[in-house]
Amino acid sequence: MANTYATFCVVLTQYLLLVLVEGTSKVPAIIVFGDSTVDAGNNNQIQTIARSNFEPYGRDFDGGKPTGRFSNGRISTDFISEAFGLRRTVPAYLDPAYRISDFAVGVTFASAGTGYDNATSDVLSVIPLWKELEYYKDYQRKLKAYLGEEKAKQTLAQALYVMSLGTNDFLENYYTLNERRSQYTIDQYQVFLVRIAKKFVENLYGLGARKISLGGLPPMGCLPLERTTNFMGGNECMQTYNIVATAFNDKLRSLVGKLNEEMPGIRVVLSNPYPILMQMVQKPSAYGFDDTSVACCASGMFEMGYACARNNPFTCTNASKYVFWDAFHPTEKTNRVIVDHLMKTSLSVFL
Ligand SMILES: *[C@@H]1O[C@H](CO)[C@@H](O)[C@H](O)[C@H]1NC(C)=O
Ligand SMILES: *[C@@H]1O[C@H](CO)[C@@H](O)[C@H](O)[C@H]1NC(C)=O
Repeated sequence: MANTYATFCVVLTQYLLLVLVEGTSKVPAIIVFGDSTVDAGNNNQIQTIARSNFEPYGRDFDGGKPTGRFSNGRISTDFISEAFGLRRTVPAYLDPAYRISDFAVGVTFASAGTGYDNATSDVLSVIPLWKELEYYKDYQRKLKAYLGEEKAKQTLAQALYVMSLGTNDFLENYYTLNERRSQYTIDQYQVFLVRIAKKFVENLYGLGARKISLGGLPPMGCLPLERTTNFMGGNECMQTYNIVATAFNDKLRSLVGKLNEEMPGIRVVLSNPYPILMQMVQKPSAYGFDDTSVACCASGMFEMGYACARNNPFTCTNASKYVFWDAFHPTEKTNRVIVDHLMKTSLSVFL
């Protein structure tokens, strides 16, 4: 009798512990869509020049490996995954080194160079956003086969979906090529992009997603590449681009409000990197940074991708002293500071 009671107590304790553990891991997986800010190597598997799977990229990553992340180390979604108690890194869906058992807790469908607009992904022949969604559907099928229908559905509903894109639509497409500029004013173009973002979230919702982080734009005019071209303005940040980023973020904020109202059970947040990144650019010493106007790699003025090649004598020795790793992308340190900030603000509701 005593034995039975002891067994009952042990079983009950185990059950309670299980409930507690399950209760604390509210986000069982991180599922990512977007551009180079969150690509972990999908572009290595397609024909494009938008790549970074060579040195010195990844020199501060685990094992110094150039994975295809556009940074010296980890990117924001890696830090988000870690902050939710999941893995240190979120692997790329097309990377043959990983399988569904890895992707079950985190996966990125992102492709460097892509945007909301199909015409943006065409520029460098990268994966358009609609195709990222097709890969996600394929992932759902595999996850259901791996976890079973019920468990997979639960995971997909509780997972955090992170979207990070938009900069390329403006800098690589609208302000560089004529087509969209001849069709839309800058304000109309923003409305066009926000409509695509809305449709995308609706599609995700229809497929079972409930927790979504929509990424805002950074102060695009302060990216070293843009500052370099601003020779008329003394290489200061390009105000025009920062104003557009702010206006677009405002439109995304209203979209988030609308989505939360229209779709029962959904929780969408705007994860806006603009203010914290601007603070780093304006008060670098507060974060231990020396340089904000040029990047670490090579001359730091315009190099990214293949132009940021190995053995360039000008590449800095300590990337943590720089806000930007190459002319377009933040260092690991910057990514970490941004995520620390987001975890305390927009993403805290999912903890
Ligand atoms: C982008 O291309 C896909 C595939 O051709 C198409 O289904 C979608 O409607 C296009 N999106 C826009 C906004 O034109
Ligand atoms: C790199 O710079 C950071 C920030 O200033 C500093 O904390 C760190 O000690 C430096 N690392 C090395 C190896 O010098």
